[in-house]
Parts: sequence; structure tokens; C-alpha cells
Amino acid sequence: MEKEIHDQPHAVADTLLGRTDEAGRLVLDEVRIPEERLRAVERITVVACGTASYAGMVAKYAIEHWTRIPVEVALAHEFRYCDPIVDENTLVVSISQSGETMDTLMAVKHATDLGAMTLSVCNTHGSTIPRESDAVLYTHAGPEIAVASTKAFLAQITACYVLGLYLAQLRGETYADDAKAVMRELQEIPAKIEDLLGRMDRVQEMAEFMADTRTVLFLGRNVGYPVAMEGALKLKELAYIHAEGFAAGELKHGPIALIEAGQPVFVIVPSPDTPHELHKKVVSNIQEIRARGARTLVIAHDGDDDVEPFASEVIRIPACAPLLAPLLAVVPLQVFALHLATAKGLDVDQPRNLAKSVTVE
Ligand code: G6P
Repeated sequence: MEKEIHDQPHAVADTLLGRTDEAGRLVLDEVRIPEERLRAVERITVVACGTASYAGMVAKYAIEHWTRIPVEVALAHEFRYCDPIVDENTLVVSISQSGETMDTLMAVKHATDLGAMTLSVCNTHGSTIPRESDAVLYTHAGPEIAVASTKAFLAQITACYVLGLYLAQLRGETYADDAKAVMRELQEIPAKIEDLLGRMDRVQEMAEFMADTRTVLFLGRNVGYPVAMEGALKLKELAYIHAEGFAAGELKHGPIALIEAGQPVFVIVPSPDTPHELHKKVVSNIQEIRARGARTLVIAHDGDDDVEPFASEVIRIPACAPLLAPLLAVVPLQVFALHLATAKGLDVDQPRNLAKSVTVE
């Protein structure tokens, strides 16, 4: 898993490779055939399980913003049984590292039966889900061996951005320039992950120091919300401790009752460039929980000084465009879970009760 975490700059770079022409326009050869159908897409439903479903949540924020196409994210095993609203103008995007997850495969088949166009975001060539789909966008994370997903997650998010930008470009010139600009920012992300991986000593120390922790909370907003969910999942999977991720705005609607002295809470702070005062609101969440004695472990961009007064620890990530931040913000959470589990003497590559690909429903 440690190797896979360190492979992440390549996972992102390789997933971006060859996606643009000389003029900076997106070219997706794999999805060219159903281009006409893609142009007619009225809504998108993402189906996935586990970590892949959190990549889907990130995709929702990005694709809706760039294309104005409504995107829904469904857990694959729920999708089939909820009488989903799907027709020939729906694009059903499945996300799966293995391409063999039975729940996700069944959701894809159900979508096909309902007449939807299906597109698979997948890391495994020739696996079942891409074969059952109308189109496939391969992630190029390389083989992922450790059971808990890390580099595949970053590659899935990257592929979803590429898909969103491609759809934006297909749907009109007004978006095409934006798409080019975002692609340029995306190209800078691998070097930023590399930089970030070089700063993880303090995160490792924190994890080792917290080996006896019984429960950890994670707060995030907008694209930081799925990052919070993923941070919690990594800790459950690897360290077998109770962890919960939630939307920071929900804090006052219940979870704040959980805050007591010493409770560790990770807070994923959006970029100060985020619109609608989102950044300010998250900073005031940190202040609220700190006032109740929480140990605030704050993930914030370089240069964001507003968080300092209320943070027990600040974990810095490089500055980037607000929608792209999950590719950076999740890294310290992966590293934290890895070292906490290691400090507990656990096998991080083969956690108990879990399988790399779940081929039963
Ligand atoms: C299993 C793994 C998870 C993974 C999920 C989806 O539950 O333990 O780590 O996120 O399956 O896997 P997939 O191969 O479909 O991405």
C-alpha cells in the first residue's frame, strides 16, 4: 500500500496521458463512437461501491459545474432496487477498479435493460464491467494489489474530470475554453502530489501517536465531503477503528453532540478561492468544535492562514483549483490510516474480512 500511495503521481499523470490534442482540446478515442448519443445526454447516474462511489461523488460536483447536466450518484446495490429513473437519454457511468464487482456489474446490466447508455471507468483491461458497457474510459493506475483502494481512487477521480470536461466540450464552445484551462491545471497535479508526499513525516508521527484512538471524525464540504467519507473508510478498512465522515454543514444538525474533549476531528478545508463563502463557513466549523475541546486536525492549502488560530494541527497541501482539491486532500488521510494501522501491528495490505474484488452480490 505504501508503494501504491507513492505511485499516485503516475496514476494521475498516466490517466491524463494522450487525452488532449496539440490545441489543448480533449480527445477521447474510446468514447468517440457513441458521441452522438453523448450529445443527447440529459442526465447522468453514477453507480459504484465503496471508494469508487466516493470518486463518483467528486464527479458529481465537477461534472454538474462544468456541464450543467444533472448527476446522481447511486450505490450500485441500491440502484437496482430503487426503481431508478433511467431512459435512453441517461448516461450511466459505472466506476470500478477491478471491473468485477458483482453489485456494480448488476447495476450496469439493469441500466442497459432500461435503455440507458453505459460507460465504464475501470482500471482492469478486459474485465467484465467494461465488456458489458457501451464505452469504457480506462484509468491507468497500474495493478492495485493492496485491498484498500488508493491510487485507483485518484485515477478514477481524474478519469471522471476528463469525462466531464469532454462532455463540456461536446456541448458547446462556451465551455471549451474552460475545459482547456482546467486540463492545464490538472496536468500540474502529479507534481503537486509528489511535493505533498514529501511532507508526510508529521502525519506519520500523528498516526503513531494516535494508535490507541477509538473514534475519529472527518468533516468536509463540497468536494471535501467525499474526501471526508473516504478518509473515514480508509481508517475502518485498515485500522479497524470507528470513523465517520460527514458534510461539515450537518455538524450543527446532530454530529456536534459527539464532540467532547480530546475527540480527534479531521477537517478538510476548501480552497480560499471557493465561491459563496464556503471557506469561511468551514473555518467557523473548526472554531465551533475546537471551542468544545475537539482535537482539530486541519487539512488546508498552503497560504491559508485563517485556519491557524483554531487548529491543533495543520496539514498543508499545495494550492490548486477548488474542484481538483480531492486529488491532494485525500493523500494525508491515506497516509494517516496506513501508519495508524501499522502502529497497531496490522496487515495493511490484507485487512481482515475484506476482499479486493467482491464478486458476489
Ligand atoms: C471492495 C473493496 C473496496 C472497493 C470496492 C469497489 O469492497 O474492499 O476497497 O472500493 O470493493 O471495488 P471496485 O473494484 O469495484 O472499484
